[in-house]
Amino acid sequence: MKITVVGSGGREHAIIKKIKENPEVTEIFALPGNGGIAKDATCVSIDAKDIDGIVKFAVENEIDYAVVAPDDPLVLGCVDALEAKGIPCFGPRANAAIIEGSKVFSKNLMKKYNIPTASYEVFDNAEDALAYLENAPIPTVIKADGLALGKGVIIAETREDALAAVKEIMNDKKFGKSGDRIVIEEFLTGPEVSVLAFTDGICVKPMVSSMDHKRALDGDNGLNTGGMGTVAPNPYYTDEIAEECMKKIFVPTIEAMNKEGRTFKGCLYFGLMLTPNGPKVIEYNCRFGDPETQVVLPLLESDLLTVMQAVTNSTLSDCPVKFGDKNACCVIMASEGYPLSYEKGYPITIPSELESTVYVAGAALKDGVLCTSGGRVLGVTAIADTMREAVDGAYKKVENIHFGNAYYRHDIGKKALMAKEG
Ligand code: AMP
Ligand code: GLY
Repeated sequence: MKITVVGSGGREHAIIKKIKENPEVTEIFALPGNGGIAKDATCVSIDAKDIDGIVKFAVENEIDYAVVAPDDPLVLGCVDALEAKGIPCFGPRANAAIIEGSKVFSKNLMKKYNIPTASYEVFDNAEDALAYLENAPIPTVIKADGLALGKGVIIAETREDALAAVKEIMNDKKFGKSGDRIVIEEFLTGPEVSVLAFTDGICVKPMVSSMDHKRALDGDNGLNTGGMGTVAPNPYYTDEIAEECMKKIFVPTIEAMNKEGRTFKGCLYFGLMLTPNGPKVIEYNCRFGDPETQVVLPLLESDLLTVMQAVTNSTLSDCPVKFGDKNACCVIMASEGYPLSYEKGYPITIPSELESTVYVAGAALKDGVLCTSGGRVLGVTAIADTMREAVDGAYKKVENIHFGNAYYRHDIGKKALMAKEG
């Protein structure tokens, strides 16, 4: 079987490594992939947003199955375009990917179907938003409607910050058209949990839970990033809470999308907050999380491609999705300065015995040498029987991987260990 995976990050590397385990897979093409993915797949320099280019490549190369991993091509209709040419895909169609593509859509969906989330107001002009903020409870949360590279959420601790955020998004167009509409919502508190779930629109099978560490600096300080590290499972996510989420959030979301005529097939990401009033949805993503995937997929014991095909064929209820009883920790090694500006182009050395669980993100081959080319450079994962061993194992690997200007958080997993061990 010839497989295409669209995307170029650590998440795509983790997906590719897992798909490779299926003996029927003969070749994997990564579009565009990166310098590290090149070890596991054939990288073809077609941008993940170049839908016409992706479809042309898949048709010409007689691709048997395509996995569309990032949000942009999903929201742009990459799956619709591939399916139109008869290529089976993993990932939602555009009319379902809107669950991530528009926060206004997802908030209205949750309100309509009574799915627990923060209370909110929608604004399509700065004047009304600014007037509303004069009396709104503080802190408050301001979200650009559309995709904004994970940067469209501002937690405003003061009224001045809130007013400034609205002006930046709506008047200065900091996130372009993504900020034409905004959501202003209630500030929630409690531990955060990421749950990725396979769904074929008929049933939903959650994967092992995980915990992201979104801020750039130790102690959850600094700017919001795409994620600086993850652990799985998330100790706050007990069996009891999982059951509650299944009943009040996961199943109702799948049913709501069906009722709206927007059946979601693929991986639906539930960003949850376990508030004193129960679990609530912070965000939906229409795809695997990054770097959640780098701890979740290594724990998957079932064959990933088989599960993905069951999603495509609407036979997920008959397909086992089994996770091992182990723990995983992924530490992101980034370029110092991320998520703002940073130097790149430094050679990376990874001992070959560590490569199997090192997922390459921002790195490119320069004259055959793997060099840094992005903010998040590597995801270094360790798997172990206990969370303590997984965390220690990931950091031990990190110490043996080198590149110029490397930066990483030192406390990935600390909160999870405190929750577990006290
Ligand atoms: P997002 O970009 O949607 O993943 O949001 C980034 C982060 O902002 C989340 O991981 C939360 O930590 C935080 N956040 C988003 N919405 C809320 C909210 N309503 N209350 C408190 N924190 C929030
Ligand atoms: N790690 C968060 C995300 O993938 O959006």
